[in-house]
Amino acid sequence: MNENTKRGKFIVFEGLDGSGKTTQMKLLSKFLESKGEPCYSTHEPTDSPFGGLLKSCLTGRIDTDERAIAALFAADRLDHITNSVNGIKKKLDEGVNVFCDRYYFSSFAYNGEFVPFEWVVELNRPAREILRPDLTVFIDLPSDESMKRVARRREVERYETTDKQKKIRERFYSAFKRFPDEKIAIVTSEEDKERTQAKIREAVLPLFGL
Ligand code: TMP
Repeated sequence: MNENTKRGKFIVFEGLDGSGKTTQMKLLSKFLESKGEPCYSTHEPTDSPFGGLLKSCLTGRIDTDERAIAALFAADRLDHITNSVNGIKKKLDEGVNVFCDRYYFSSFAYNGEFVPFEWVVELNRPAREILRPDLTVFIDLPSDESMKRVARRREVERYETTDKQKKIRERFYSAFKRFPDEKIAIVTSEEDKERTQAKIREAVLPLFGL
């Protein structure tokens, strides 16, 4: 990193399927760019070959073991952080702020159902050691509302039933308790996306001195 370059901020968005993470990330990055802050948005699973494999597992096109899926998510994440072409660390070192749609808390919440939670924690230990978010924004949404929004939108995937979403939400909260040293902002998703955005800005803008 050039000595004069200020390291970018790493902000993660987490939430149930349909919680509006993508929309909210876009609104935030547009706003910050208008204030002169360079932003880069990315997501997990990624668009790399690891992510491609994962998407096939999630839609059932590849039928595999849940441990293999949990390990693939961890591998996808490590590549996402360290990739020498477009890895998150590289962007941050170049002074770019990175917004990431899902990160290791998604692994704790989703994959912890099928394999022991502490095993998922261990799998993600390298990622936590290399790169912790400056802030994780959790966009909270009741599980039945999450399912309604997903069903309106697209093909329903592996983890998408109301009961499952309820348990996933509970595991997000257990994971936040398990890691009290992580910086988490919990924001309730409103019907009006601008109101949700206003709450997110309240949590995020102080990181930028805004
Ligand atoms: P998406 O719908 O936000 O693109 O995410 C795809 C699915 O992958 C979503 O149901 C959550 C799941 N997932 C995991 O199971 N573990 C993970 O580590 C991540 C990042 C996502």
